[in-house]
Amino acid sequence: MTTTPPGGPRIAQVGAVSLGTPDLEKSLHFFRDLLGMEEVERIGDTSYLRGYQELKHHSLVLFSSAEAVVDSYSFRVARPQDVELFHQQLIAQEVEAVELPSGHQAGRGTATRFLLPHSEHPFELYYDIDAPQAPEEIRSKLPSNSSRRRGLGVRRIDHFNVQAAPEHLGAAEGWLRESFGFKRREFVHVPEANNMLVASWLSVTPQVHDLAIAVSADGKNAQMHHVAFNLENHSDVLVAADVLRDHDVTFDLGPGKHGVSQAMYLYLRDPGSGHRVELYAGSYHIFDPDWKALEWTPAMEWGATWYGDPLEIGPDSSMMSSTNSSPLASVLEKGTAKS
Ligand SMILES: [Fe+2]
Repeated sequence: MTTTPPGGPRIAQVGAVSLGTPDLEKSLHFFRDLLGMEEVERIGDTSYLRGYQELKHHSLVLFSSAEAVVDSYSFRVARPQDVELFHQQLIAQEVEAVELPSGHQAGRGTATRFLLPHSEHPFELYYDIDAPQAPEEIRSKLPSNSSRRRGLGVRRIDHFNVQAAPEHLGAAEGWLRESFGFKRREFVHVPEANNMLVASWLSVTPQVHDLAIAVSADGKNAQMHHVAFNLENHSDVLVAADVLRDHDVTFDLGPGKHGVSQAMYLYLRDPGSGHRVELYAGSYHIFDPDWKALEWTPAMEWGATWYGDPLEIGPDSSMMSSTNSSPLASVLEKGTAKS
């Protein structure tokens, strides 16, 4: 395992998720018309969207696909050279990585794509990305907003929550910390079972998590649990719940509030794809450089739900993902192999 050296490449933030949907129009209706995201660009059967507080080109890619799949979880790196430096680091670690050309995702520069060691989630790293102005009719007067707040007010992507097989979770989470510089902020483990890791909330920013990784309910690697989008206030989550009930959107859980992260949540399903989406607001931020990861056990049920419907942190069929990520073969199809 290689430790990211001081001055070495760094992950800066969550970038975008790319989701395949069997019903692109229905998914677009959900994300664009109901949640209020801006459709920045559409190329063929692929659409690029962003929240009203995102100045860069996109944070969500929707593309037509026979099945609901996750094509990639993208992270933006801190400096232009970090794409290549991470690529070299991956090769040195004998992790198969391919280079994606500029424009592989519209508006984006070159990227490196690989499967997360031990858990097989398809990750992409990039730096360059356009920052197009919104059309005048929806442009905000506020320079920090790309467009006016619309719909239910999704302002940005917030985090990814992915799952790994129990026997691989610890190694995958350790790799993220050692090789990618993620900090463990809160975690659930089982002291009676050799401190087996159940879930970990990791970040490279002051957020409690940019990425959560947890044990898979059905023991499989490479599963998405959900992708979360940020709303400004707790009350926005309640308004979203009220409005979306009237649009026959399936709720998995909530609204409620987590103990871990202290965020207000609503888990629901994109009606076009069935992908699980979390609407997320609140939470706290971490500025302490000496932050010690907060320890939870499954018996502390208020970690999952501070208030609202109970949520099992461990296996729970109601919270299982229906989506599998791309296999390695797809990774190699996506770009040009680079030695
Ligand atoms: Fe979440």
